Formats: sequence, C-alpha cells, structure tokens
Amino acid sequence: MTKTFKTTLAVLAAALFASTTGIAVAQVHSLRGVQPDAVDKAPSDLQYQGKKPGQQQTIDRTFKDQPPLIPHALNNFDEITLEENQCMSCHSPEKYKEKNAIKLGDSHMSLVDIPGGGMKKVMNMSRWQCNTCHVPQVDAKPLVDNSFKGDITAKQ
Ligand code: HEC
Ligand code: HEC
Repeated sequence: MTKTFKTTLAVLAAALFASTTGIAVAQVHSLRGVQPDAVDKAPSDLQYQGKKPGQQQTIDRTFKDQPPLIPHALNNFDEITLEENQCMSCHSPEKYKEKNAIKLGDSHMSLVDIPGGGMKKVMNMSRWQCNTCHVPQVDAKPLVDNSFKGDITAKQ
C-alpha cells in the first residue's frame, strides 16, 4: 500500500468512527460567515479621531514598551516615502522643539561613526515606517471580542 493510500484509509476510518459514535467533528467558523467566497461588503470609511497636532492630550499607554498611540489626525501629513517622512518634520530630534511636539523615542536612535572621527546619534532606519508601530485612532466597532485589560505596571 502506498503511504497516501494508507493515510486516506486512516482518515476515512476516523470519519466513519466519528459519524457512527456521534462524536462531533470540530466546525470551523469563518469571520466572513458560511460562504467564504462571497464578496465582502466594504466597510464605510471612518474618519480618524483627533484634530491638528498640538491640540490634544497624549493617550495613556496600557502595557510596558507599548508604542504610544497617535492622538492627532493625520490628514495631510502622513506621507512616508523613501525621500520624505512627514512625521519627522515634527518628531525628529532637530525639529521637535520648534514644532512643540514630542521627540521620537530614544530607542529609535543609533550611534554611528562620523567620518574623520567621533560618533553621532541618527535615527535607525528600521524605524522609518512609523505607522508600522504607531497607529492613529478611529471610533470603530471591534471585529472580534477582546477581553484585553491593560496594565502598564505588569511584568511581561
Ligand atoms: C505638525 C506636527 C506633527 C506631525 C506632522 C506629526 N505629529 Fe505626531 N504629534 C505632534 C504633537 C504636537 C503631538 C502631541 C499631541 C498633540 O497635541 O496632538 C504628537 C503626538 C504624537 C504621538 C504620541 C506620543 C506619546 O508620547 O504619547 C505619536 C506616537 C505621534 N505623534 C506619531 C506621529 C506619526 C507616526 C506621524 C506621521 C504619520 C506624526 N506623529 C506626525 C505633532 C506632529
Ligand atoms: C518598530 C516599532 C516602531 C517604529 C517603526 C517607530 N516607533 Fe516610535 N516608539 C516605539 C516604541 C516601542 C516606543 C516606546 C519606547 C520608546 O520611547 O522608545 C516609541 C516611542 C515613540 C514616541 C514617544 C517618545 C517619548 O519619549 O514619549 C514618539 C514621539 C515616537 N515613538 C515617534 C515615532 C516616529 C515619528 C517614528 C517614525 C519616524 C517612529 N516612532 C517609529 C516603536 C516604534
């Protein structure tokens, strides 16, 4: 007997056993409902919460080392390309004072050699895509239930 054939027989035997003994076979519930190939209805567009930067409080963090949530709107300044990063126009170490913003986290900086001697701190490029970790807020119904309760003092 080939290996595949043996496996098929084993699966059939298990199914027969389950059906004759009345053992329920686990059902998979898709988030899309019973017809996974049905075309999704696009959710309506929701506006990000928050006004222009400089007008809101920061949002409390809910666990240690959480990337802080973005409290302000992002319309018109969320462009992050190879050449440009609009977030840096307010959050960079050079600009944050002038823009009255918060300096990006220390963990985002790396020490590099200066040609000719010495070291300086520059942003680590692994942090360039800010919105991989920092997300704006929207008042949306959660897709699935979530019982997470934040505790910033909890050890991980
Ligand atoms: C025009 C200046 C400006 C721009 C552009 C800007 N921010 Fe901000 N950001 C602020 C200010 C000011 C605050 C303080 C809260 C407030 O007043 O909205 C802030 C707060 C934040 C915070 C909260 C920090 C904390 O400690 O809680 C995060 C995270 C953040 N911004 C990320 C971003 C990201 C990511 C972008 C780009 C997509 C961006 N910001 C673009 C000015 C700016
Ligand atoms: C890989 C995930 C990641 C990326 C990418 C990232 N951050 Fe962060 N950020 C964090 C975490 C985690 C913290 C909290 C720890 C810290 O302060 O370093 C943080 C903290 C911050 C803070 C608050 C600093 C403070 O002292 O309160 C600001 C502002 C910020 N980031 C802005 C940015 C901006 C702007 C970018 C893009 C240029 C960016 N971050 C990219 C994870 C990230």
